[in-house]
Amino acid sequence: MKPFAPGEISPFAKVSSAFALLGLAKRPMLRRAGTLAAFAGMLALAGCRTAESTFNWRGPAAHRIANLSWDMTILFVVITIVMWGLFAFAFYRRHGTLAEHEPVEASGGELWIAIGGLAVPLLILTVLFVAGLSLLQAFPIHGMPNGLSQAQMAQAMKPEIRITGHQWWWTIDYLNDDPSKAFTTANELHLPTGRPINIEVGTSDVMHSFWIPALHGKVDLIPGQANYIRLLASQTGTYTGQCAEYCGAEHARMRLLAVVQTPSEYEAWLEDQRKPGNAPTTPDAQAGEKVFTTAACALCHTVRGTMAHGSVAPDLTHLASRQMLASDIYPNNTSFLEAWITNAQSLKPACLMPDLPNFSGQQLRDLVAYLQQLH
Ligand code: CUA
Repeated sequence: MKPFAPGEISPFAKVSSAFALLGLAKRPMLRRAGTLAAFAGMLALAGCRTAESTFNWRGPAAHRIANLSWDMTILFVVITIVMWGLFAFAFYRRHGTLAEHEPVEASGGELWIAIGGLAVPLLILTVLFVAGLSLLQAFPIHGMPNGLSQAQMAQAMKPEIRITGHQWWWTIDYLNDDPSKAFTTANELHLPTGRPINIEVGTSDVMHSFWIPALHGKVDLIPGQANYIRLLASQTGTYTGQCAEYCGAEHARMRLLAVVQTPSEYEAWLEDQRKPGNAPTTPDAQAGEKVFTTAACALCHTVRGTMAHGSVAPDLTHLASRQMLASDIYPNNTSFLEAWITNAQSLKPACLMPDLPNFSGQQLRDLVAYLQQLH
């Protein structure tokens, strides 16, 4: 399903929020209808990016997590139905008169408490605990299953990719024993189908958590410690991910994309990404490159093959090949690129990218022309 653009609201949510105004109505009937409509609207909004769900698994690890999630969901629905059934029974059963209840039964109901309050919850929680523990085998991380040390773990999980969290974006390093084949990108992780890929995760600042629900569970990014996760994707597609550990003001907008390709497409992508940034050929783009390398941009960003070697912000060598901007928040098109350069603080308040309103008119168009030919 196509992601909704920022600010876009599903038609259903619009209609239901109009009805939600009924919640302010005086008549109780209308007010109740308004409350229901508002609730339905919230559900519609919550559901608009269906791709990002634990139930939407696209790999064996995520499949196991999805199975447990289904079991738990079904179990909890059954428990809810039973509990509401008991409430209804208690509410509607014949009450009898006060006289009939004399003398008061002070010792009734112990069996209910023993079974419903102790035995049943103990059984259910034990089953869930064991199921959760056995699921840890799907996570070759933290050295947990076999108690490996950090060093042993690094060897056993020799990573192909290193992901580093920042407030509020991701560096993605494709590692290689041959340094000329290693490269850095940001916010868009590419993976091949059918082959497990070991990933090392770390952070440059605070704790984050790496999570692509379609592929696996979460793994924390902890200062001063390398953690590992093994991703195996079974189906091509684009899956969204989200930082899953509160990490500051823009935590909610610390998102990422995983693009899963066939092995040959993936190899071709690697080959493209290893190349330095395209040299501009049009006059606009040539002027833009000059702006990029001589103005503030180059202090923070890198475009391989140019004088721009900044390392505190995303590598832009192949920016135009990426689908989204600002850590999977805005579509990578001309208007958002211009808006991001000039007004990043409005689009993602408190991020490190400053507003650069001095870029305007032809200079801004040149800069964007340059960036858009960095395929
Ligand atoms: Cu990074 Cu939350």
